[in-house]
Amino acid sequence: GTICAAQRTGQERLVRTSLVIANWKLNGDAELLKSFAEHFHQSEIQQHIGVAICPPAVYLKTADVLLNAIGVKVGGQNCSEFEQGAYTGEISAQMLADSGCRYVLIGHSERRALFAESDAVMAGKVQQAQAAGLTPVLCIGETLEQREAGELEQVIEQQLSSACKEVDFENLVIAYEPVWAIGTGKTATPAQAQDVHRLIRNWVATKAPEAAQKIQILYGGSVKADNATELFSQADIDGGLIGGASLDTEQFAAICQAANVKKDS
Ligand code: 13P
Repeated sequence: GTICAAQRTGQERLVRTSLVIANWKLNGDAELLKSFAEHFHQSEIQQHIGVAICPPAVYLKTADVLLNAIGVKVGGQNCSEFEQGAYTGEISAQMLADSGCRYVLIGHSERRALFAESDAVMAGKVQQAQAAGLTPVLCIGETLEQREAGELEQVIEQQLSSACKEVDFENLVIAYEPVWAIGTGKTATPAQAQDVHRLIRNWVATKAPEAAQKIQILYGGSVKADNATELFSQADIDGGLIGGASLDTEQFAAICQAANVKKDS
């Protein structure tokens, strides 16, 4: 794997570095990228934590030029499960890598719910991303109905096991995004989120014990500057995947600052 997400400290303790990713969804433009670049040009936060922006695909090259040079990483919002061929409208993982991407979001709940992406499709996308040298950010999370029916654990484990086939856990980020918290202003409580993050890390440990201590598990769903600190201080929350609040440069920067905490694994 290529991530330096975990580092040995002087005392040989393993600590995970935080990661904050902006998911612009179907928003933003080159002007907004410029405003980000200007802000992060003045900032050093990206030397301390990982910061990445996932703009719509047509802006990736602009993002590559403006952001990679100042240490802010770039990511795609989706990639094809196919390597190449007659798949009109698709973008391959290798094409994202060629455009300067380091990350790609896979299985966002909007892809699952609005574009009928199945768990089986996720596995192919994760494999394509890793084969292209990208770090996939696998998004999982339950609906309110599933949570209220007591199916939380089962849903999370099902999503993980179906997407993580032949996966290199050393080069994977997992984002827990409860569907009911996305764009609703209803964030999971820090304790609710921590419980699921622990569940996820324990599941990874059953597959890859060493990687489980290093893997970054991000929380997403109505993260704002004013609730980020409490969420990111939880033991197994290693940063965030930010939607709405990532469209405001100042607010996104404040969320990045809140993630500047190192935790023992
Ligand atoms: P919001 O931050 O707008 O709730 O979106 C979260 C999300 O879906 C990030 O991928």
